[in-house]
Amino acid sequence: MDNKRGVARRRSPWPPDAALDKPQPLGDQALFSHSVISPLRYPGAKRQLVPVIEGLIVANIPPPRLLVEPFCGGATTTLRLLGAGVAEHGILADVDPLVAAFWKTAAFDASWLITSMHELKVTVEEWDRWRAARPRSRRDRALKCLFLNRTTFSGILHGRAGPIGGRAQRSKYKIDCRFGLDGLTRRINGVAELASTGRVLDVWQADWRTTLQRVSERFGFLQDHEVVIYLDPPYVDKAPWLYEWSFDSEEHGDLASALLKDVKHRWLLSYDDHGAVRDLYCGQPGQTTLHVSHRYTAAGSEKRTVKDELLVTNLPSIPASDRYRVLDPQNPTNQALLD
Ligand SMILES: C[S@@+](CC[C@H](N)C(=O)[O-])C[C@H]1O[C@@H](n2cnc3c(N)ncnc32)[C@H](O)[C@@H]1O
Repeated sequence: MDNKRGVARRRSPWPPDAALDKPQPLGDQALFSHSVISPLRYPGAKRQLVPVIEGLIVANIPPPRLLVEPFCGGATTTLRLLGAGVAEHGILADVDPLVAAFWKTAAFDASWLITSMHELKVTVEEWDRWRAARPRSRRDRALKCLFLNRTTFSGILHGRAGPIGGRAQRSKYKIDCRFGLDGLTRRINGVAELASTGRVLDVWQADWRTTLQRVSERFGFLQDHEVVIYLDPPYVDKAPWLYEWSFDSEEHGDLASALLKDVKHRWLLSYDDHGAVRDLYCGQPGQTTLHVSHRYTAAGSEKRTVKDELLVTNLPSIPASDRYRVLDPQNPTNQALLD
């Protein structure tokens, strides 16, 4: 089935050599200028960092042919950068089977997802049923991801978070308050459009190591600097409460050493500002650590707080900006920053 604008929907991932073609024009340009374009609410979504990441990528020549997001979660960054034409093509990947199934279905099976979403009953009884369900098909996993993400406190898929509005639904925010069908339909159609125009090439359910290895194997025909990898791993402190797949300190260390030794592509990494992260990355050759401070609202919360994050990158050119400060590589724990 075609979507409303007559763009034929893509039913399967593109072969890797599609990364050599220019993507077709987008129909719904206006959608990609909205601040929220992901259909998923995601703890730790990096909406505020996107302009900073965009500025860093565009300051470096050549522009990327391929953007890969191995910890995609709500995929805010990749969707926005593909929609804005900052990168030509993208691959989304996440180890969580619900998250990966959601993106694959939104990209390549959107008509089914939209129709099924309209048939869902959004009640606490259904929330209990989805929470207990162990779906085996990709489609049902996608639906479980969408349902729980939009009806659970803070968008948390796993763990102990309850339904929005509480079990008794006495709050003024009821379980369906984040389940606006028109907005979700438009955003899912937006993902499908990024896929049908050759921007989203594929979605992988994979551990980050597999993703990095696959990128090297399948996209070896691109030059190393034509690929940018954006990594947003689980938080150091809070991740066990937010994600089913969180990192221990050994895994944070494994990622740092893979980026230092094995990854030939350009990359950017975002983290909560934590001493352990500064210790892992500051002062490593060929890497720059930036301190970014911004106002942040956690999904499902009304409160805005100032949040400190780190961006680490091997991009060669770092333009001056009042959005970040470059950390002194000799003295990473010192708050004194280089201008
Ligand atoms: C901080 S969130 C990413 C948020 C995302 N950047 C956004 O804007 O919504 C981290 C994600 O990493 C995924 N993850 C955790 N361990 C992983 C692993 N070993 N390999 C790949 N993904 C993993 C989690 O499922 C989660 O979706």
